[in-house]
Amino acid sequence: MVKVRKMKMILLLIIQIVVAATAANVTYDHRALVIDGKRKVLISGSIHYPRSTPEMWPDLIQKSKDGGLDVIETYVFWSGHEPEKNKYNFEGRYDLVKFVKLVEEAGLYVHLRIGPYVCAEWNYGGFPVWLHFVPGIKFRTDNEPFKEEMQRFTTKIVDLMKQEKLYASQGGPIILSQIENEYGNVDSAYGTAAKSYIKWSASMALSLDTGVPWNMCQQADAPDPMINTCNGFYCDQFTPNSNNKPKMWTENWSGWFLGFGDPSPYRPVQDLAFAVARFYQRGGTFQNYYMYHGGTNFDRTSGGPLISTSYDYDAPIDEYGLLRQPKWGHLRDLHKAIKLCEDALIATDPTISSLGSNLEAAVYKTSSGSCAAFLANVGTKSDATVTFNGKSFHLPAWSVSILPDCKNVAFNTAKINSATESTAFARQSLKPDGGSSAELGSEWSYIKEPIGISKADAFLKPGLLEQINTTADKSDYLWYSLRMDIKGDETFLDEGSKAVLHIESLGQVVYAFINGKLAGSGHGKQKISLDIPINLVAGKNTVDLLSVTVGLANYGAFFDLVGAGITGPVTLKSAKGGSSIDLASQQWTYQVGLKGEDTGLGAVDSSEWVSKSPLPTKQPLIWYKTTFDAPSGSEPVAIDFTGTGKGIAWVNGQSIGRYWPTSIAGNGGCTDSCDYRGSYRANKCLKNCGKPSQTLYHVPRSWLKPSGNTLVLFEEMGGDPTQISFGTKQTGSNLCLTVSQSHPPPVDTWTSDSKISNRNRTRPVLSLQCPVSTQVISSIKFASFGTPKGTCGSFTSGSCNSSRSLSLVQKACIGSRSCNIEVSTRVFGEPCRGVVKTLAVEASCS
Ligand code: GAL
Repeated sequence: MVKVRKMKMILLLIIQIVVAATAANVTYDHRALVIDGKRKVLISGSIHYPRSTPEMWPDLIQKSKDGGLDVIETYVFWSGHEPEKNKYNFEGRYDLVKFVKLVEEAGLYVHLRIGPYVCAEWNYGGFPVWLHFVPGIKFRTDNEPFKEEMQRFTTKIVDLMKQEKLYASQGGPIILSQIENEYGNVDSAYGTAAKSYIKWSASMALSLDTGVPWNMCQQADAPDPMINTCNGFYCDQFTPNSNNKPKMWTENWSGWFLGFGDPSPYRPVQDLAFAVARFYQRGGTFQNYYMYHGGTNFDRTSGGPLISTSYDYDAPIDEYGLLRQPKWGHLRDLHKAIKLCEDALIATDPTISSLGSNLEAAVYKTSSGSCAAFLANVGTKSDATVTFNGKSFHLPAWSVSILPDCKNVAFNTAKINSATESTAFARQSLKPDGGSSAELGSEWSYIKEPIGISKADAFLKPGLLEQINTTADKSDYLWYSLRMDIKGDETFLDEGSKAVLHIESLGQVVYAFINGKLAGSGHGKQKISLDIPINLVAGKNTVDLLSVTVGLANYGAFFDLVGAGITGPVTLKSAKGGSSIDLASQQWTYQVGLKGEDTGLGAVDSSEWVSKSPLPTKQPLIWYKTTFDAPSGSEPVAIDFTGTGKGIAWVNGQSIGRYWPTSIAGNGGCTDSCDYRGSYRANKCLKNCGKPSQTLYHVPRSWLKPSGNTLVLFEEMGGDPTQISFGTKQTGSNLCLTVSQSHPPPVDTWTSDSKISNRNRTRPVLSLQCPVSTQVISSIKFASFGTPKGTCGSFTSGSCNSSRSLSLVQKACIGSRSCNIEVSTRVFGEPCRGVVKTLAVEASCS
């Protein structure tokens, strides 16, 4: 026994020694974060752990590492970790420790943004809604109850991380933590208390003694030693509030989030790469993509109002975990080029000089002789040729060239060497006998959700209640019900004329049922005003209003108080004008949530499911259930909800989120080929106008069994669930790439002049690789070396075209998974002298 104890003690000692040996000392100075005495150039990317599953995490992290990231940045989601006060959840998608450890295992660092206000298009900005009911609380200001709760949760997280030895100071991966989030954007609204709140936040965070630095983003007055960092589409003009702090960028928005009713934003990679390169050009040493993988707002986690279930964000890794190409690949090349400059970047500040109008050079030169340069053309229209160090360089408009040796270009942000790949949704038959969706439909069963009050916990209150205060967000749904007596002689019953029910709501959706029938509905972000013509009868009438929230607000000063639901006025008017009755002040009956939510229809089986046909369709308020087999293979799974209206869906009891395929994007502002040149803004590049904002909804593979999966949905509006289809998200089989003679050679082959005697040996190369390892290039749909025109799928040859183009590319590529073709006249011959030629290829894999 004594022996065992001794052994244990020795083991513990060894562990402690090992930890002490691997513990990293993280500090910072004017240039960079300093890890173990060495300044670091770091590339970071956001992955929010609850927006994917633990089963997806290793692959997402590996793809991030392969993409050249050093750091994974995540917020900490309070509402997920403490859904009820003092009842913590660190399981499943909320297993923060596991996530951090997986990042560590991959050899990457972590930036932990504790907040605990996080914004993030997350319900209520990440605050648990119970927080709102703490007596005397005022959010995000110098308020004792708030500060107490904020400190308690922040301490909880820091303690958990410490317990697991996850701070770099303990040998773990966390090199940086964040407190608050963009408070500087809104603090003026909080008056003088804002100043003391920020000071308190900083000292509270510091007192937790993590052993690594803290940052505050968008907080120009962040007290020392908190590093104030920048968020935005561009941060090259940012300077921290002290010369002792490094220039850091915590959110470089890789795209933008999607809202129900909105078109899909996308951000061209040439512009994203330009923003990154400009940042490192102008002295930055830490940059984070927000998001690198956006993922999915499962369950009721999406923020609001009206944030969609998909949080794809046009990120380098798409919602489903597939690489988005050429975005991912082009950024990987960029990261390699930046890393080639690291020694020079960390040694000194850049020397900036002008090379002409809109043309700028930044040179990092060390005393030991290493040199890196960034050449920028910030003009939005004209390409330029600049002379730098006696050599001439072609700089497309809105681009940066990176010269890791101050002589040769390793990378230009506008010249893409990675192929475009598309992803596709492949519908699959889900029954072993290949049953169609009609057959699938015959296996649907249903339960009707009662219209109006049906639960025992309903209650009466005079006047109209604000929704969040009433439901505490336990459910999206709140019933407002009223019984009215209409006397026979009232004008509302005039022959031929209808009454009009006027409803005003703070959002986001209202359904009005009169005498048990849906009379009208409407939705909106903040203010809904409806005039619904209705038929009343002499005697008793019922008015049942169902108000539905779609994500609680997450941004802005006092976002927690904007409210939701039918706060009035609500009036009854005669259609002809004349008298009007105020209904708002009457005695209403309230019901929080649905009967089916109480019975747990989403999660468990109920004996009430009705399976006799016909299946009721296109009627509001119905629960539907069916079973299905998982699509074969290992590709990510999605459900296409086309045919349904709006609601919430569960697969095997797990909520996959709100679906709303009938929410249609507006018609304006879309463009297929958005010009990447010039400043980006969230609504600059949009697609999908006039179409449903989101039809496909992610079902994580790990939630599925091979067969006998249950899908339950609660349909609010009325739809036909038999039209639902299942399928897999697949990387498309088409590859397209255009590489010109003026492209830099692949960054992987980059060597500085000092290392290679004959620099001319490296020329631009067009490289293709099938995304799936079992595939080979099976055909070349298009190839032209010369002046080809068009884009992927519509290439045509121009007036200049080498006749050998197709046969050469076919020979080099067909039958192999990947191929490399030098883009030069040496290979293709000279089809037209004096012109910079381009090789365009479209290939397919199978
Ligand atoms: C920032 C915020 C993030 C996220 C982003 C937009 O203002 O810090 O949490 O909301 O905007 O996606």
